[in-house]
Amino acid sequence: MAIIVDENKQLFTIHTKTSTYQMKVSEYGHLLHIYYGNKLEHMDLSYLVRGVNRGFSGTPYEAKEDRPYSLDTYPQEYSTYGVGDYRSTCLSVEHEDGSQALELIYESYQIYDGKYKLEGLPAVWAKETEAQTLEITLKDKATGVKVLLYYGVLEYLDVITRACKIYNGTSTPIYLNKALSCCVDFLQNKMDLLSFHGRHAMERVMQRKEIEHGKLSIGSIRGTSSHQQNPFVILCDNNAGETYGNCYGASFVYSGNFLAEAEVDQINHTRFVMGIHPEGFRYYLEPQEEFVTPEVVFVYSNSGLEQISLKYHDLYRNHLIRSKFVHERKPVLLNNWEATEFHFTEEKLVEIAKGGKEIGVELFVMDDGWFGKRDSDTSGLGDWFCNMEKLPSGVEGLAEKIHGLGMKFGIWIEPEMISEDSNLYRNHPEWCLKIPNRTPNVERYQLVLDMSRPDVREYLYDSISQILEIAKVDYVKWDMNRNLSDVWSQLLPANRQGEASHRYVLGVYELMERLITNYPNILWEGCSGGGGRFDAGILYYMPQIWCSDDTDAIERISIQYGTSFAYPISSIGSHVSVVPNQQTGRTTTLDTRATVAMSGTFGYEMDIRTLSEEEKERCRQHIEQFKMHYNVIQYGDYYRLTNPLTEEIAAWQFVDKEGKESFVSVVGLHVRANAPFNRILLRGLNPTSYYTIDNGEELYLGDCLMKAGMNLPILMGDYPSKNFYLKEVRKG
Ligand code: GLA
Repeated sequence: MAIIVDENKQLFTIHTKTSTYQMKVSEYGHLLHIYYGNKLEHMDLSYLVRGVNRGFSGTPYEAKEDRPYSLDTYPQEYSTYGVGDYRSTCLSVEHEDGSQALELIYESYQIYDGKYKLEGLPAVWAKETEAQTLEITLKDKATGVKVLLYYGVLEYLDVITRACKIYNGTSTPIYLNKALSCCVDFLQNKMDLLSFHGRHAMERVMQRKEIEHGKLSIGSIRGTSSHQQNPFVILCDNNAGETYGNCYGASFVYSGNFLAEAEVDQINHTRFVMGIHPEGFRYYLEPQEEFVTPEVVFVYSNSGLEQISLKYHDLYRNHLIRSKFVHERKPVLLNNWEATEFHFTEEKLVEIAKGGKEIGVELFVMDDGWFGKRDSDTSGLGDWFCNMEKLPSGVEGLAEKIHGLGMKFGIWIEPEMISEDSNLYRNHPEWCLKIPNRTPNVERYQLVLDMSRPDVREYLYDSISQILEIAKVDYVKWDMNRNLSDVWSQLLPANRQGEASHRYVLGVYELMERLITNYPNILWEGCSGGGGRFDAGILYYMPQIWCSDDTDAIERISIQYGTSFAYPISSIGSHVSVVPNQQTGRTTTLDTRATVAMSGTFGYEMDIRTLSEEEKERCRQHIEQFKMHYNVIQYGDYYRLTNPLTEEIAAWQFVDKEGKESFVSVVGLHVRANAPFNRILLRGLNPTSYYTIDNGEELYLGDCLMKAGMNLPILMGDYPSKNFYLKEVRKG
């Protein structure tokens, strides 16, 4: 049993494979957080929580004789604003009389097999036998407002998911001014926060900072999870590394505004909260209405960051992504974007596809520019019908030609957007997010459709499905090329405008759900100017996401390194493009570009016809190599062997689940004259088994390769790369 309740003590304990999580109802009815960390024998750990009479940390009225008891110093399971907890809070409720306070008192609990679901929101899923749910109900002391805390437990993966429902059980309306998903109070400091920041074309750069006094806050108020900060963080011991130390991953299964905040409080305890960003957020609840927060997925590791990533990868592959392509081999693709941008004809696309076919590409993707009036980024978005000037035989005709080459066919769409210069805007100017009497902020000349509107979603479903019905489409790239601003929805009354950003996200999810449900054989790829919406929310709908608009192999190493902390390799869209690279001007070898793209979904983004015969032959070999190692790369365990942000060599490794095969990639980021020897310590092999390297004669013991290392050749040239294939030939 993963969840144990001691009713006499009102003690709730969750055990996963290596972690223990405990809560207890205090004598005054508050739900206290007791412990989250390395697995412990089952016992009441509440002796860890101590109080002492501290000045300026008040006491609930009932406890006035018990001055050490304070909501400001005791660890809280779900902290609320207004009643004396001055640390980062989760929930702020405004009542009809204008007061903003809530004091939550334990009411009841229930446990059931399987995992709770969140209607309209993406969430981790599991079979009845794979998970358990604990639901705890708390009620405000003075009103009928209730909070239901949800805990989903996937024991074998060390996963605890959290979400909550806020229910207005009063007879008057309330406002939620802040409604985060979770709070965790650690009775310690000396913890670091790893976060993943960036910008367009440079996403998920890992940053590590000590959590100290004062709030360390990351988040997004851009309407999407954003390039600038990813909704994923890791809290860990100061000295934690890849293979040692306590680590806690927190991944938000949501694609809109978010906040992750950590602080060390006055008595050196660490508080962490996560949820929808409160800025601009205000949710109105009529009596009997409820609000459901998105989910946060916690993963624990007592042995470093590597285990955090391995568990997230398994969890997201097996319990989040629903597409059949997560377990089926996905075709190697060629996308025309970098080759042509908007400037193509049907003939040109067919020629480019043929070039791909020559090297073994299996899927051709027509990117932006095929619809409405779309010769640049200034017009056409919203008009999801074929531009017959560019494609005289229609999308269906082109699809037929591509299929005629023996290839699959895919298209690009950007459903959430509208250009002012479009039929859609001329017919429905009221469909975009815009504030009356204000000129909106524009980006790429485009405005954002109000996805909270059912009529907008209906129009998008109809026009997109019309294309998918008439043309044989095997793949769709769903792009989103700006952030939200001027958020104001025409259908919402003034007192509900603070809901618009969240309702936008729910609308996007609803449309995605409808499309993927009705077109399950299509391979869907998420995108937002590259990786501006690379989050667990999108992965619930789409098995892969275009990782970055930066296709430079060397920059991509850091971007993919950061992305790998939470997201499985099979979800990382990655392509080989031309040199000099269009974003950086850097030249790297074809081998290095292929090595980096292979650590993702693998594809091309160039006109293959520009390559020499020799280079084409090399591409053929790369595609064969990728296909040969597909299972190890896409379904195996992934290990970061070096940190490319600080080291001169980037190295990473894939190992199948049994340790029978391994694929190791190495890229020289800085080569030197008269270079010292390098060795790397491998991971994940069977210590007592013998392995060959690249099918050579010599045998190496797994234990030695992991503890003493594997020799690397001296690397020469500009950003050289080398791949190694290890095979278990004899068990010890
Ligand atoms: C975004 C995407 C690119 C490409 C362009 C098309 O930037 O990330 O891959 O599709 O849009 O406009």
